[in-house]
Amino acid sequence: METTRRTIIKSASVAGSVAVVGSSAVLTSACTSAESDDSQAEPGPAASLSSSEVPVGSGTVVDDTYVVTQPKEGEFHAFSSVCTHQGCQVRNVTETEIVCPCHSSMFSTTTGEVLGGPATEPLPEYSVSESSGELTISGT
Ligand code: FES
Repeated sequence: METTRRTIIKSASVAGSVAVVGSSAVLTSACTSAESDDSQAEPGPAASLSSSEVPVGSGTVVDDTYVVTQPKEGEFHAFSSVCTHQGCQVRNVTETEIVCPCHSSMFSTTTGEVLGGPATEPLPEYSVSESSGELTISGT
């Protein structure tokens, strides 16, 4: 089995755009603004993983940061893996639902929208792109 190549950049306090190329990551710019807009997700860290790590009709949690789903073959989505109810890690992913084990909130695998409470806010979505079997997740 191919060795998993995964690059994680965590930038909790520095917002910026991040490019991930192969197994190395390069910061391309740094945001100089400290403006905050609670209506938008904070720019997140970036990660890459092999598309083979994400089962069709399910998904996988990446480093307790993202949940990457593949509801249909070749269709990938990425969301925060932190439940918007009380912050547990979502764990169980089916073709249509991402389920939080703490209080059973359910989120859509394609939009992150709440399908069942107690959570009322969707999972923040991240961009995910696929190239040559490699998925790249980037902040919004
Ligand atoms: S923390 Fe996820 S449902 Fe409560």
